[in-house]
Amino acid sequence: MADRVPETLQNKLSERLRYYDDIGIKLFYRYRVSRQTPERFVQATATTASPQKEITLPKPALKATQRHATATTPPPRIDMLPPPPKPSLFDAMDRIVDDTLLKIRDDLGDCTRCRLHCERNNIVFGDGNPKAELVFVGEGPGRDEDLQGLPFVGRAGKLLTQMIEAMGLQRKDVYICNVVKCRPPENRTPERDEVSTCSPFLFRQIDAIAPKVIVCLGSVAAQTLLETNRGVSHFRGQWMEFRGRRLLATYHPAYLLRNPNAKGEVWKDLQKVMAVLGLEVKKSKASRAGQPAAADHSF
Ligand code: URA
Repeated sequence: MADRVPETLQNKLSERLRYYDDIGIKLFYRYRVSRQTPERFVQATATTASPQKEITLPKPALKATQRHATATTPPPRIDMLPPPPKPSLFDAMDRIVDDTLLKIRDDLGDCTRCRLHCERNNIVFGDGNPKAELVFVGEGPGRDEDLQGLPFVGRAGKLLTQMIEAMGLQRKDVYICNVVKCRPPENRTPERDEVSTCSPFLFRQIDAIAPKVIVCLGSVAAQTLLETNRGVSHFRGQWMEFRGRRLLATYHPAYLLRNPNAKGEVWKDLQKVMAVLGLEVKKSKASRAGQPAAADHSF
């Protein structure tokens, strides 16, 4: 049997994998030998799309000059989005009538369904407004979250709070949860079977809250809700749907801590969400001062 890889090397490797994951080239490393095709993708405006449905890849966005040359109709404005499609019959059958967060928490119980329970201190179920119009979905609890039993309370969580406040909201206005409810050891990416064991609880949470918009933070959340293997950088900022609800994926705050230059892109994504929620989109200080796009954010 091969020697065990030393823990420091393991940590370095998982950090590197998370980095590749964040920039969207996870496939090469993680799914090289997988039987899953990476081309599963939910189309933004498909009327009957569901996480089970397949799916055409969206065309790459045209540059402004190409758009003028080829388009006969102007690009849709974000405030003129078509209404989100109704959930498919399959989605509707999947739903639990009159489900509530309390029932879901109760069903989760003192969960031992996957190996992640072995090392956890607390289950991190979710937190916030049970009737929120906006739900943020992260990957899984980290160390601080595991200790406190609350999502996004560590460094990445502080940044998420700033992002929420830049939108003109407070944490108590939104709902925040994760794909997996227990901390993966050493903050590694949750394994496929851990995700599939835990995600039904996430789906129920989303159904019970019935938000107008779901924001996926990072690849794991987006891949889980959209049933794709593609990295978030391929489709961040594009409107998609999950069970008849609008979904937009953006970079994870932990990625932004490592790559603050991506904050401008995330701010653009959040502004799209704000437009749909009817929140006032204000210009950031940086854009008022004419600074470069990467600096154009309010958090
Ligand atoms: N990262 C996540 O994805 N979720 C948390 O709750 C904290 C950090």
